[in-house]
Amino acid sequence: MTLQGKVALVTGGGSGIGRASARKLAANGAKICVADVNEAGGTATVQQIETAGGEAFFIACDVTQAEQVEAMVEATTARYGRLDVALNNAGVGGAMTNADKLDEAVWDAVVNVNLKGVWLCMKYEIPRIIQSGGGSIINVSSLAGLVGFRGNSAYSASKHGVIGLTKSVALEYARLKLRVNAICPGFTETQMVDELVEMVPSMAERIQHNAPMRRLGQADEIADAVVFLAGDTASFITGQAIALDGGASAQ
Ligand SMILES: NC(=O)c1ccc[n+]([C@@H]2O[C@H](COP(=O)([O-])OP(=O)(O)OC[C@H]3O[C@@H](n4cnc5c(N)ncnc54)[C@H](O)[C@@H]3O)[C@@H](O)[C@H]2O)c1
Repeated sequence: MTLQGKVALVTGGGSGIGRASARKLAANGAKICVADVNEAGGTATVQQIETAGGEAFFIACDVTQAEQVEAMVEATTARYGRLDVALNNAGVGGAMTNADKLDEAVWDAVVNVNLKGVWLCMKYEIPRIIQSGGGSIINVSSLAGLVGFRGNSAYSASKHGVIGLTKSVALEYARLKLRVNAICPGFTETQMVDELVEMVPSMAERIQHNAPMRRLGQADEIADAVVFLAGDTASFITGQAIALDGGASAQ
């Protein structure tokens, strides 16, 4: 129980990597705020945590809306009295289209959720985590934040942005015992990848072909790294973008 007594907030906690991480953080003793625009998914995550003997609550929150983000953070500290860990994970995949064919509205939607959403969350989380004596923020970037993603430039740009944001904020708060890191998952078996393959069926072959391990990641494998970064055993790690990609970025 490495996170006993800690309180963690997980955005996009209603599905995939967010759900798996919320469950593992709770299994390690943290109390969890599960936030998502998807109420059914979010409450299902809470139920799963409670069934396993953990403690969690759901709050509906669109990470692009400042007042909702502020309310999410305030609801967490009002309920559990502190905030130690935040996993800023909510994200959208956007469209598979070359840049000259990309709709401006899609660009705005992807960058708003994936990049501005992460900044907005940190804006309200930082003062509360510092009030709690420090802690750990984990921002979800991507393999596409480390290398280009042919056919999805908006997504790749937003995820590269998350890394720059993470490094800068890590430097701003390093002396206040707040660590800020990004994780960069490779293709991981979640609803997001299912939707991607549905949009462009040839992606299934492309993903498999580019994977050194010849398989996708599992959400639980990403969640294990989240638990490590959240806890005190990662006390000297900040400002990093950590690839969790089965070697894909090593190619
Ligand atoms: N699955 C992959 O291969 C992969 C790879 C690299 C990075 N990622 C990133 O991991 C994160 C989680 O993705 P996933 O694969 O678990 O996908 P997912 O679609 O299963 O989960 C994403 C969750 O985010 C929520 N969400 C979307 N927009 C939101 C908003 N505006 N406010 C609040 N919640 C919102 C969705 O409702 C959903 O529950 C994303 O940031 C994604 O970009 C995923």
